[in-house]
Amino acid sequence: MIPVILAGGKGERFWPLSRRIRPKQFLSLDGTGQSLLQSTAERLLPLSKGGPGLWVITSALLENGVQQQLPDIPPENILAEPQGRDTAPAVAWTVIEVVRRYGEDAVIGFFPADHWIGKPDIFQEAIKSAENLAISQDLIVTLGLQPQYPATGYGYIEQGEKIGTFGDFTAYQVAQFTEKPDQERADQFLATGRFSWNAGIFIFRAGVVLEELRTYAPDLIAALEAEGAQAYANIEKISIDYALMEKTQKACVLPVSFGWDDLGDWNSLERLLPKQNGNVALVRHLGLDTQDCIMYGSDENEVIITIGVQDLVVVRDGNVTLIVDKNRTQDIKKVLPQLEDDP
Ligand code: GDD
Ligand code: MG
Repeated sequence: MIPVILAGGKGERFWPLSRRIRPKQFLSLDGTGQSLLQSTAERLLPLSKGGPGLWVITSALLENGVQQQLPDIPPENILAEPQGRDTAPAVAWTVIEVVRRYGEDAVIGFFPADHWIGKPDIFQEAIKSAENLAISQDLIVTLGLQPQYPATGYGYIEQGEKIGTFGDFTAYQVAQFTEKPDQERADQFLATGRFSWNAGIFIFRAGVVLEELRTYAPDLIAALEAEGAQAYANIEKISIDYALMEKTQKACVLPVSFGWDDLGDWNSLERLLPKQNGNVALVRHLGLDTQDCIMYGSDENEVIITIGVQDLVVVRDGNVTLIVDKNRTQDIKKVLPQLEDDP
């Protein structure tokens, strides 16, 4: 299999820690001392054995950073997109490149760079089963996670007919794929018990997705085949979830359980890191009557002092201070455009 890391996101919900040239995948947020990108690559390396190695698709702006963080990846395995156009163009361009170099039978796995995986051994077993499933059924394999709460930031997969057993895992057809539903639908999905969260990982034979994209995103494929990276200037911004997964009839799901989290925003740190005195602090913190806050300081000499507050995210990074209600971290994206340049 050719594992491909999708590493071109901006991670804006982790601002200011995630600046333009230092997005969250370059940061160490999971307590391992490695960046999210490095942890992702480490997990995938054993799965790339016997193939042409690990690939990364990222933005031109981040290409050098990726090379520095993953010095063992040959430069030809790093694709640099001129602009970020979300994941559909990233997937499409990678598939076209893989087919050009290795043919339609190459098996590709796409992996986000912003995940925490608690049990890498089970993760690797699941991916091997997914690879066998993808090859034997000619399907696009997704991994489904037991939903923990009615999140609106994930894709939801409705389980259909059983397909069969692959290793320790059982595969099902996808009856319905819904990306980022509104709250009402997310509540409904959870109540049925038939839905899982989409892990954002896709495994398939290159030819299958090339054909599906020709059907559901013909303009995208035509532009990329004709112009390569130059097509990006005029390409629509859309994720693979909307562009393909909601439409294709060739998806299946492998329900898995390996300890998973999408490190999407500051709140995710609370799920991963231990609380001290009722707060999560990645900085020296002095608190009086302070509860359920998340604090971060980039400088080891920094101290954050809080008195009589709760449910806040407080971040000090260089010349930037962010103080945001924990329930409003999604809105960080709204204020960023008002900053003239990334300070
Ligand atoms: N190369 C490239 N180019 N990578 C990108 C781009 C781009 O333009 N945009 C995003 N990425 C990368 C991100 O860095 C991340 O590793 C991955 O693609 C997924 O993007 P996110 O923006 O984090 O997606 P999401 O979390 O909102 O949603 C996806 O993942 C969820 C699970 O984490 C979807 O697949 C959901 O259905 C899924 O539940
Ligand atoms: Mg994500």
